[in-house]
Amino acid sequence: MPELKLDRVTKQFKNKIAVEHVSIHLKDGVYGFLGANGAGKTTLLRMLCGVLKPTAGEIFCNGTEIGRLGGDYRYMLGYLPQDFGYYPDFTAVRYLTYLAACKAVPKEAAGEKVQEMLRLVGLEGEQKAKIRTFSGGMLRRLGIAQALLNDPEIVVLDEPTSGLDPKERIRFRNIISAMSKGRIVILSTHIVSDVEFIADEILLMKKGRIVGQGSVADVTENIRGKVWEYEAEAEEALRLNDIYPVSNLKNEGDRVRLRIVSEERPHEGALPAEPGLEDVYLYYFEEVSEHVDHMDRGI
Ligand SMILES: Nc1ncnc2c1ncn2[C@@H]1O[C@H](COP(=O)(O)OP(=O)(O)O)[C@@H](O)[C@H]1O
Ligand SMILES: [Mg+2]
Repeated sequence: MPELKLDRVTKQFKNKIAVEHVSIHLKDGVYGFLGANGAGKTTLLRMLCGVLKPTAGEIFCNGTEIGRLGGDYRYMLGYLPQDFGYYPDFTAVRYLTYLAACKAVPKEAAGEKVQEMLRLVGLEGEQKAKIRTFSGGMLRRLGIAQALLNDPEIVVLDEPTSGLDPKERIRFRNIISAMSKGRIVILSTHIVSDVEFIADEILLMKKGRIVGQGSVADVTENIRGKVWEYEAEAEEALRLNDIYPVSNLKNEGDRVRLRIVSEERPHEGALPAEPGLEDVYLYYFEEVSEHVDHMDRGI
């Protein structure tokens, strides 16, 4: 069973600190890095894959620093980069066969392995088509297939669901659940619903740091008492929407149902609500405390 340990990992580009002091311990399971654009997800994942070297701190795989594992580490790894490169004139089957050779999949096994991957991601019918004709969703699925070709113990997928339509997203979730047993699966996204149902652990990333970590139940429990529902009149709803992070606005007749994230009861008529991951996202990324300051200034 693989094990990854990050010890105070930091990456600085000139005067920009992209990842700062990240210390985490990953065992088998699905880990979802959730954060806005620019949070440092891609930089962290590239360091995890050994593509980038940390400025400070170390990454260990089964107790050994990954730089010292060299090629052995790469064979344990399957990586889908955020902007993954492909050959537009290759067919899907030729591309995967070529990559199987690069990843030292034994030649006798490669043909069957490629077909298995094509079936897994639902591209067996398009295997003879040139990649340049693929839609964004098909490309992502091909990217996922290439990442899994060598049965990696550690799978790193950077924004694997970008460009997928709702049906493809469901298929993606099923692929991940089907292959996650006994592996470390790490994925990044800025979309809450992508990780809500598949990640065993959520890592909330903001400005290069991990600001929250745990199961969906853990991280939602952390904001219990800070989520409120209130039915307001249209004008009042607009005013509250300016002051507080609002995760859900729903028109109900001439009134508007608001879901508000706030340390304190936003209105005497507001009732506490059961927190969800959307609310967690809003809490960490919409600066609930800044909104409170805003209110304190008497607006
Ligand atoms: N090669 C680079 N050179 C300079 N700055 C970079 C480089 N790569 C990323 N950054 C900066 O680091 C921060 C984190 O970027 P990134 O890791 O791509 O975040 P995310 O994947 O969460 O959107 C951003 O401010 C980005 O502009
Ligand atoms: Mg990114």
